[in-house]
Amino acid sequence: MCGIVGYIGNKEAIPILVEGLKRLEYRGYDSAGVAILSNEKIIIEKESGKISELEKAISKSPLPGNLGIAHTRWATHGYPNKENAHPHADCTGRLALIHNGIIENYAAIKTNLQANGHKFITETDTEALVHLIEEYYCNGNNLDEAVRAALSQVQGTYGIVVISSSEPDTLIAAKKGSPLVIGMGENEYVIASDVSAIISHTKNVSYLEDNEMAVVKRNKVTIKTIENLEVNKKVEKIAFDLDKIEKCGYDHFMLKEIMEQPQTIEDATRGRLIAEEGTARLGGIRHEIESLIYAPHMLLSACGTSWHAALIGEYMIEEFVRTTVEVEYASEFRYRDPVIERGSVMFVISQSGETADTLAAMKEAKRKGAKVLGICNVVGSTIARESDAGVYLHAGPEIGVASTKAFTSQVTVLALLTLLLARMRNLGASKGVEIVNAIKALPKSVAKILENHDTIKEIAEAYYKSQNFLYLGRGYNFPVALEGALKLKEISYIHAEGYPAAEMKHGPIALIDENMPVVVIATKDSIYDKITSNIEEVKARRGRIIAIATEGDEEIKKRADHVIYVPPTLEFLTPILTIIPLQLLAYYIAILRDCDVDQPRNLAKSVTVE
Ligand code: F6R
Repeated sequence: MCGIVGYIGNKEAIPILVEGLKRLEYRGYDSAGVAILSNEKIIIEKESGKISELEKAISKSPLPGNLGIAHTRWATHGYPNKENAHPHADCTGRLALIHNGIIENYAAIKTNLQANGHKFITETDTEALVHLIEEYYCNGNNLDEAVRAALSQVQGTYGIVVISSSEPDTLIAAKKGSPLVIGMGENEYVIASDVSAIISHTKNVSYLEDNEMAVVKRNKVTIKTIENLEVNKKVEKIAFDLDKIEKCGYDHFMLKEIMEQPQTIEDATRGRLIAEEGTARLGGIRHEIESLIYAPHMLLSACGTSWHAALIGEYMIEEFVRTTVEVEYASEFRYRDPVIERGSVMFVISQSGETADTLAAMKEAKRKGAKVLGICNVVGSTIARESDAGVYLHAGPEIGVASTKAFTSQVTVLALLTLLLARMRNLGASKGVEIVNAIKALPKSVAKILENHDTIKEIAEAYYKSQNFLYLGRGYNFPVALEGALKLKEISYIHAEGYPAAEMKHGPIALIDENMPVVVIATKDSIYDKITSNIEEVKARRGRIIAIATEGDEEIKKRADHVIYVPPTLEFLTPILTIIPLQLLAYYIAILRDCDVDQPRNLAKSVTVE
């Protein structure tokens, strides 16, 4: 989604801003721009398309200056072209502003301002805000006061950074519903929507909260609320190094992150398994265990891939903990006036911790009295800060737009949660120990599947020209079928559907012929016989079967056209293994189709608008 970078200090701003924009490229964007205070004037350069286009434009006329702002846009209001790209300026050209989020009442603001003589040149909601600031600025307020006054008129969400040629030593940043972080260097500050644009300059950061505004000078930051009350902010340390956000020799972030999974799954369990007691500990929610044990009802809410992890969590918790669980798309939950029973607990699951719909679902559940716990990856993200308590994934930054390692870490954390609660309810010690051992074995098993990447590549070569794919699974592997299909469609643009295998005969079976590759997750588990019958149904219609099967299952070779083996594990842990070949299959198919897997069309890494 849109990216923000701002710089104030003693160095040349352009290289820092452009490097920051490149670090944010992974979030997805369609145009980019910078504004620099250069020789007492604000100069704006913008381009549609890649950041390299912007770089070319800048290189034609260098822009000296050490105060500036830069932005990557992901269009919501107005076509993705040069005019609509940020930064936006006011009528006088004194002000420049970048904005993430949506100004919902922009049309009313614009009409009023036009009546006062303001000239608009873009189709964006953002332009209304810069003219509104101008209105207050021209009335004798300083920049700080003008921004504060304008924001009090605004409905919607924003992360903004504003500069003025009349105040060359000031940069203003403000946040409501869209993340902003201030990197605190030595007499310099880098402001960004994501720490990845800051980490090469400093590891000391302060996260702005909603309704906070920072007045950043070259040697000092003052943070106040929009109501002008001073806030005492802590400075926190970014907990990872630069190499975590670089490709380290891999062609794509997505491949790097798929390959990292033996490590990230281990990191999700580190210090959390108590082998001798056959249970787990989750420090972040230790004070909430009672609410969890006695919860009459649990809700899991998320979007996209995280929602698929939640579905697996539902199966796990209901089977082992025997509490009723409901899984809800956050985007539906937030608007449908759900019933929240007294004592209900909701888990919100999110890699980024910034997904707008998930945040809104969290707020709605809190409003209705539920305890809300987070399962998220990004440390210090809004969900991490605003949930009652939570568990981190510790998967490190996920840069690839298609979520891979976060998914397996989410499912691993849900397995730990299940184990912890089940052991406090009705699971015996010996079964607990068996589960601990099975969880410990997962990283090695994942590594073994990854070693088999050449087989998966060959299958990709056989099918990459297909127009459609079907993914089938049952039980714990039904959500894996959904996730496998999502991976394929989002990065290779092939139409793919995930289905519970038994549902196929209620409709999708009509699609099957010799041109339809059907990926079936058919591990040796309690419903193996059922899924092999579904395979027969596909075969009878000449569909091409790619089976994900358990090592040692030689029988399946007679039925399937291709078999990818995964090591055996406990049934409820199989999704952590079966998704791995499906991630690789989607990756290799996308590469063969020449798709940009790290920046798929129309997609953003972190969906901070609804
Ligand atoms: C798919 C994908 C998305 C995200 C979804 C939620 O590969 O990445 O479907 O899972 O946008 O994002 P988070 O988990 O950050 O809330």
